[in-house]
Amino acid sequence: MANVTQQFYDRISHVYDLIADGGEHLAREKGLQALNAQRGESVLEIGYGTGHSLVQLANAVGVQGHVAGIDISPGMRDVTHKRLADAGLQDQVELRVGAVPPLPFADESFDAVTMSFTLELFPMETIPKVLLECRRVLKSGGRLGIVSMATVADGDTESPLERTYIWMHSHFPHIVDCRPIPLEKLMRQAGFQLSSLERIDLFTMPVAIVVGT
Ligand SMILES: C[S@@+](CC[C@H](N)C(=O)[O-])C[C@H]1O[C@@H](n2cnc3c(N)ncnc32)[C@H](O)[C@@H]1O
Repeated sequence: MANVTQQFYDRISHVYDLIADGGEHLAREKGLQALNAQRGESVLEIGYGTGHSLVQLANAVGVQGHVAGIDISPGMRDVTHKRLADAGLQDQVELRVGAVPPLPFADESFDAVTMSFTLELFPMETIPKVLLECRRVLKSGGRLGIVSMATVADGDTESPLERTYIWMHSHFPHIVDCRPIPLEKLMRQAGFQLSSLERIDLFTMPVAIVVGT
């Protein structure tokens, strides 16, 4: 499965921004605002994609800080490396390629860990393992900021587009590799206390922007 995922993202790495970034960038930006990375902090991004957030994080933490990223796709790494080099930030970000989980970092290495539109790609049974790994690499009091497609709030009805998405994911997961997840519940179950919680609509589908400690 990891191999299929890697090949899929390698293939689309050069067109990913055209396909996805128009819709997703607002939610991603809100996620970074909520995470509020500070000068001197060390921050990890899981599933950095084409590297937009890594540029912002590197600028936020400055040269006294440390930014690391891990992504399964060497294609995404190459696109991100170019973006960082164009911004003069290539020496400030540690770019890794690898399949998560596990996270190849020591316990209590980071003040913050972040993910956007990535947690909802993992099989449901793997998500708790990913969140546990995030907890392990976070320092005491560290923040986990996640942006993801979310299941509708209790009592709400899914839009036709969201229902189609879920159907496509269950029947053709190689075409639609993500689906909405109950992000707030999953983070609480993994032991995080939610300090900031926002929901926005992306083409009638809810997106959750959550920070937990
Ligand atoms: C939907 S893209 C989102 C990219 C970026 N975070 C954004 O918001 O634009 C998901 C990213 O997660 C990476 N990814 C998927 N499965 C992964 C895994 N098991 N381990 C590490 N990275 C993974 C993909 O290669 C891809 O770059």
